[in-house]
Amino acid sequence: MSIRKRLNLSFMAMVVIPIILFLIAGFLILTLFIGDLGELNKLLPESHNYKQTASQESELFVSLKEKSFQAPLELLDENYLLSLQADLERINAVLAIRHGSNFIYTSKDLADITAMDLPEFGYHSSDNNIEKIGDKTYAIKQQDFFIPNVGNASLFFIKDASILTKLTQTIYPVLFVTLLLILVITNGTLTYYVSRSIINPIDSLKNAARKIKSGDLNHAIEIKGKDELTELAQTFEDMRKQLKESAALQAQYEENRKELIAHISHDLKTPITSIKGYIEGIQDGVATSPERLQRYLQTIYQKSNDLDHLIDELFLYSKLDLKKVPFTFEIVDLKDYLTDYLEELNFDFEKTQTKVRFTHDGSSEFLVQVDRDKIKRVLSNIIENSLKYMDKADGNIDINLRSIKDCVKIEITDNGPGIASDALPYVFHQFYRAEQSRNKQTGGSGLGLSIARMIVEEHNGEIEIESQLNKGTKIIISLRKVSR
Ligand SMILES: Nc1ncnc2c1ncn2[C@@H]1O[C@H](COP(=O)(O)OP(=O)(O)OP(=O)(O)O)[C@@H](O)[C@H]1O
Ligand SMILES: [Mg+2]
Repeated sequence: MSIRKRLNLSFMAMVVIPIILFLIAGFLILTLFIGDLGELNKLLPESHNYKQTASQESELFVSLKEKSFQAPLELLDENYLLSLQADLERINAVLAIRHGSNFIYTSKDLADITAMDLPEFGYHSSDNNIEKIGDKTYAIKQQDFFIPNVGNASLFFIKDASILTKLTQTIYPVLFVTLLLILVITNGTLTYYVSRSIINPIDSLKNAARKIKSGDLNHAIEIKGKDELTELAQTFEDMRKQLKESAALQAQYEENRKELIAHISHDLKTPITSIKGYIEGIQDGVATSPERLQRYLQTIYQKSNDLDHLIDELFLYSKLDLKKVPFTFEIVDLKDYLTDYLEELNFDFEKTQTKVRFTHDGSSEFLVQVDRDKIKRVLSNIIENSLKYMDKADGNIDINLRSIKDCVKIEITDNGPGIASDALPYVFHQFYRAEQSRNKQTGGSGLGLSIARMIVEEHNGEIEIESQLNKGTKIIISLRKVSR
């Protein structure tokens, strides 16, 4: 349930529940005090049992009324009057008999009331006359009668404070306290449950945020329920995952950067050290004959060339990595392109023992969209490897062009030493050189194939390698066909 809905419902409940509970409680309290609840009434102190008191009172009054008709003289009989005492006290009433302007009997001392304060003889209002005498309220029942040989008299039944006032005084505080309790309990309970359902998820979010702040990105956030906070938690969790991924990527970049610097410094240092060595040798007069000097100079030239090549590759690699190399794409038929390219290279091939063969599957066109110079770089890096690592006297390089569905594939296969299967997944990584190549005199930085891969990927193509130790290596470049 959404928080908005929960808050609205709890607000309604906070209004409705106390009203219902208060009505029930009020009804019960009133019935308890005034109503007839059988056994339950007995639990109340007698003075608070208004229902019972009222009925006893009217019974007694009726009997006195009858007496005043039938045997008025008995109302002067002290023994009879004494016998009423207990009943009168129970109902908290005072019996007073007035003759003329004086009381001839009062069951209790009526300190504040004189006989003249009471209604005069013959005054008949209601049965229950509420009179204010002094600052007090009295409920007065009056019965006028005639006493033989004495004259007119009035019988009064006086109750201090009306039942209503007493009732009000007793019930109102009880009702008030009950209402207060109901309000506190219902609102407290509802507030507790509603706020708990909001505060708990906020707390767990707060903890998660703290953990993230302190760099702990492994603490997954528990996602429960279905409300606004769940959505927030989900967003937070997604954010944590993304942060974790980018932190891992950042760490990887950092690691790569360190590796790159280490490799570059190593690869630059090696030729420079040997150049320095040869120059020092020349300076120290080690090159005693002109042939020797010539050889030294030749080596220095060779090493400088290697250095130049390395710096070139590094430069291209980093520019490709930063995507700062501009590509000029044009539609090219790979059959013509490869024929021209291999013709260009013929001179180099002639110097080696390796034979190069170019075949294609006979399709009429192999149209692709490429940057001519960049693809040339890819091919020469691959062919250079085949030539460089060739260990057979009858070395072969087969270049085959095939058209498959919407792709054109260039396969370059050599019968060289091949690459160990455990090294194969890494040959496209920058600076990677398989173990067997490191020990050889073949120079190289391990950037050739990673540059080739970056260029092919920039063409939205794919580059794959297959190799078997001692048998040879095949590199497959797939490029998307286009139509003219
Ligand atoms: N045709 C191949 N035959 C055998 N091993 C190969 C062949 N091509 C690549 N390799 C292996 O893969 C590694 C990576 O090749 P890559 O061209 O990236 O680097 P490199 O040739 O060592 O250096 P660079 O090309 O930068 O001068 C090589 O060191 C070599 O071990
Ligand atoms: Mg290479």
